[in-house]
Amino acid sequence: MKILVTGGAGYIGSHTVVELLESGHEVVIIDDFSNSSGEVLDKISMITDKEFVFYEGDVCDKNFLESVFAKENIDSVIHFAGYKAVGESVANPLKYYRNNIDSTLSLLEVMDNNKVYNFVFSSSACVYGVPDTLPMKEDFPLSPTNPYGYTKLFIEQILKDLSHSNDKWNIALLRYFNPIGAHESGLIGENPNGVPNNIMPYIMRVATGQYDKVHVFGNDYDTEDGTGVRDYIHVVDLAKGHIKAIDYLNSNDGLSIFNLGTGIGHSVMELIKITEKVNDVAVPYVIDERRPGDIDEYYADPSLANEKLGWKAEKDIEDMCRDAYIFAFKNN
Ligand code: NAD
Ligand code: UD1
Repeated sequence: MKILVTGGAGYIGSHTVVELLESGHEVVIIDDFSNSSGEVLDKISMITDKEFVFYEGDVCDKNFLESVFAKENIDSVIHFAGYKAVGESVANPLKYYRNNIDSTLSLLEVMDNNKVYNFVFSSSACVYGVPDTLPMKEDFPLSPTNPYGYTKLFIEQILKDLSHSNDKWNIALLRYFNPIGAHESGLIGENPNGVPNNIMPYIMRVATGQYDKVHVFGNDYDTEDGTGVRDYIHVVDLAKGHIKAIDYLNSNDGLSIFNLGTGIGHSVMELIKITEKVNDVAVPYVIDERRPGDIDEYYADPSLANEKLGWKAEKDIEDMCRDAYIFAFKNN
């Protein structure tokens, strides 16, 4: 099948393109490099030794999209393109609403014009509110805490309305938990611009000697060691979930929602200690104040994805910390 991957030069998109190519799919990538670079495309070629098509452009631009759909005979679309920095979305909400929602609307309209109806969307666990119980299931209440999260919730609603309007649409909403790690080659991974907001890229900057110490945001949470607990998932496992979702849409109509997580929670201190152990490096840290808005603990119930998609995360936290470090070491 020929799959259009928007945002395919980004962190999760690039890993998914590798898995798609290795599963025998044809791939067309669109990216505007607003948060990535062309180097990633060379790395994808090096890893897979396979060809793919790339178009540089903005997914919000319908004329550009029409020109791509006119040239390529697309079967299904995976839509990663979007902005994802929570703090920036609070400071500049219009930028987030414009890009994330506009890109999705343009893409869906052009898909409809071209009679392409299989759509996989990158949603996030941040659409959920603070959970009363764990693990988190797909039918838990939705209540994001920031504009970025609202873009995901609004797009989910748009997709639900679209699915109700016409049963020709086959849609998978994938709610990712916390993707970390990198391809085992160390060629592609996550290397954010500036100071990382998220824990794993920060730990990697310390492990590779670029920063002095990790700032652990609070050790008085109601968790086993007092530090925040999340469901970290290896990005390659996450990428494989997209291949399963594409397969699923070929034989299942309507809209489906899946948590993609491991179902296992790990604390900030565990991440630090495991990174030190598996890579034989020091990761100094200091305990700081809690980060406003953070919650103690959450992790997925991934059983729906296990059953319906036939997908299960296979890599463990040691693999994640090892692969993240190999990439960080090679690319710092
Ligand atoms: P990323 O920033 O690495 O990748 C997104 C890619 O989209 C980038 O290459 C960027 O250049 C491109 N892009 C952005 N806007 C575009 C536009 N209008 N036109 C063309 N290209 C555009 O992010 P990621 O971590 O790979 O995340 C991919 C998707 O998954 C995003 O939608 C994100 O919100 C979602 N998500 C990410 C996480 C996470 O922790 N990384 C968690 C949950 C959901
Ligand atoms: C973040 C995003 C969320 C996104 C998710 C998955 C924010 C506020 N939320 O959530 O939208 O869906 O990633 O990628 O950015 N921590 C430290 N020190 C640090 C950074 C983080 O101790 O320097 C702690 C946090 O308090 C938390 C844990 O590490 O307990 C994970 O934090 P982070 O990586 O930012 O992920 P989330 O907060 O889960």
